Amino acid sequence: MADLLNMTLNERLEFLKANSPLSDKEISLISSGNGLSVEKANTMVDNVVGTYQLPYSIAPDFLINGKEMLVPMVGEEPYVVKSTSFGALLAKKNGGFIASNTGSIMIGQVQLTNISNPNTAKLAIIERKNEIIEIANAKDPVLVSFGGGCIDVQPRILDTRVGSMIVCHLIIDVKDAMGAQAINAMAEACAPKLEEISGGKANVKVLSNLATFRLVRVRVCVKKEDLGGEATVDKFVSASAFAEADPYRATTQNKGVMNGMIPVVVATGNDTRAVESGVHAYASLNGKYKPITLWEKNLNGDLEGMIEVPMAVGIVGGTTKHHPLAQLSLKLMGITSANDLAEAIAATGLAANLGVLYSLTTQGLFSDFESNRK
Ligand code: MEV
Repeated sequence: MADLLNMTLNERLEFLKANSPLSDKEISLISSGNGLSVEKANTMVDNVVGTYQLPYSIAPDFLINGKEMLVPMVGEEPYVVKSTSFGALLAKKNGGFIASNTGSIMIGQVQLTNISNPNTAKLAIIERKNEIIEIANAKDPVLVSFGGGCIDVQPRILDTRVGSMIVCHLIIDVKDAMGAQAINAMAEACAPKLEEISGGKANVKVLSNLATFRLVRVRVCVKKEDLGGEATVDKFVSASAFAEADPYRATTQNKGVMNGMIPVVVATGNDTRAVESGVHAYASLNGKYKPITLWEKNLNGDLEGMIEVPMAVGIVGGTTKHHPLAQLSLKLMGITSANDLAEAIAATGLAANLGVLYSLTTQGLFSDFESNRK
């Protein structure tokens, strides 16, 4: 166990030197507080006048699919890194997190309006899907050369308050990118052909942040002895049932999961709003807002926990490429694919939920926080 909590800042940096693949120079870039220069920032977004700093912390003791990992967390909320690391340690003692994913498949949408015969148009689009796929893939030969690209075309008829329309989904494998740019480019490129086939007018052409084909799942089992006994397991299950039944609680529980996930999304230069909108939409996909984590008791009386969320994150392109600390964060984690990053982010969310639910169901968060400050 790495007791980073009781180390001085300098000791933590020594720990990082000894336990990470980062060079001294790379570690200094993080510790200097000047990871992103104003000049660099000025090339990233509009109307820049400076940069804004946030704490960069390390959560130790992650074990994901048998691989040890130090997780970088960028965020401002006290107690989050501590309780997330506690969750990670509980998991590690019990074999760690088991993670899987459904691949990097995203959806691009083309809205087609003014269609008099939507059912015929839908079939016509399906019949000519290969032409559309070809147009989409011609837009991004690099992605295609990496084995990605548009793989399917799925038109849906949508009845709206202004009448029927067709929303044509382009199913796109974006590989190691978050994919927004490639998807938007493909959706725009396909629009004229879709107009021609459907007889309609293309309107909105953009990715969907509800990435239901880009799911990540993580689970963990914690022995009752490590939680102080079966009574705590029962309290976890009760808290989980509370969140499942009550959107007021589900929202707060999901916020606690986000406390773990979003700092990793920030540290790796990914789009927090894309992840958040996708996760919350997924949480309410069945018509009622639900928790994205779930806890139950197995036959031994031990705790089983799991998370399932869409996770549209990348390791190439955009801020992941431009922000110097984003690349260092990936190096620190030993991450070489977007799918591995998605799994690590979800595992951090589950760890945060595990750590915080332990507090909430035992001593109480406020009391824990107060004793932490003494
Ligand atoms: C606080 O940032 C997050 C919590 O409210 C999460 C939860 O209640 O599960 C503690």
